[in-house]
Amino acid sequence: MKMIINPDLSLNEIKESLRAALKEASEDSRHGLRFFSVATVNPENNTPESRMVVLRDFLPEWTLRFYTDFRSSKVAQIQNHPAISLLFWNMNERYQVRIEAESTIHYKDNISKSEWENVTGEAQKAYTSVLPPGKIISHPEEAGDRITQKNYFCVIDAKATRIKILQLKSTEQWAVKFLRDSDTDEWIGHWIVP
Ligand SMILES: Cc1cc2nc3c(=O)[nH]c(=O)nc-3n(C[C@H](O)[C@H](O)[C@H](O)COP(=O)(O)O)c2cc1C
Repeated sequence: MKMIINPDLSLNEIKESLRAALKEASEDSRHGLRFFSVATVNPENNTPESRMVVLRDFLPEWTLRFYTDFRSSKVAQIQNHPAISLLFWNMNERYQVRIEAESTIHYKDNISKSEWENVTGEAQKAYTSVLPPGKIISHPEEAGDRITQKNYFCVIDAKATRIKILQLKSTEQWAVKFLRDSDTDEWIGHWIVP
């Protein structure tokens, strides 16, 4: 089995493998890191909320990009509290990745406009429904295909600040963490007890 961590690798090699894997996942819909959970804090009850999203891009400064509807609850939660937590499980290679990130919302700006070029056909419906995501309806068909001329497409960029990777391998496990030095933005890595 291919593994992202083993004791013969340097911390830098492990970090660079993760970088490559995240980039691949953003380009390959079948990659083990393609889908991940995003946890935000709901300020109404101070409770965490998580949901799955698709990794749409991975930018060189360790920024993970995903798309959403501007009206969805996650957007208001991110506006209120930009620190979010991302969780991946690569089932094929049996490793978990936990990322803490600072997020930025792009809505009706140059980034959202240029990313919208990648959203074609049926996929556009996810961001143009008449009724907002999460709204209570009396019948499932009410959500329907009703499309508005308005476009609620929104891009979230999550810049990683801390990373933890846990590799499982039959009876053994290995774990590492990486923190960003706040002055230089460079990653500092450590082996940790799994
Ligand atoms: C596999 C999978 C992938 C998903 N990808 C996205 C996505 O990329 N963007 C998104 O906004 N919602 C996505 N969803 C739906 C979200 O998980 C969530 O239900 C929705 O965005 C509303 O979340 P919120 O009300 O917490 O903001 C996905 C769901 C699943 C099951």
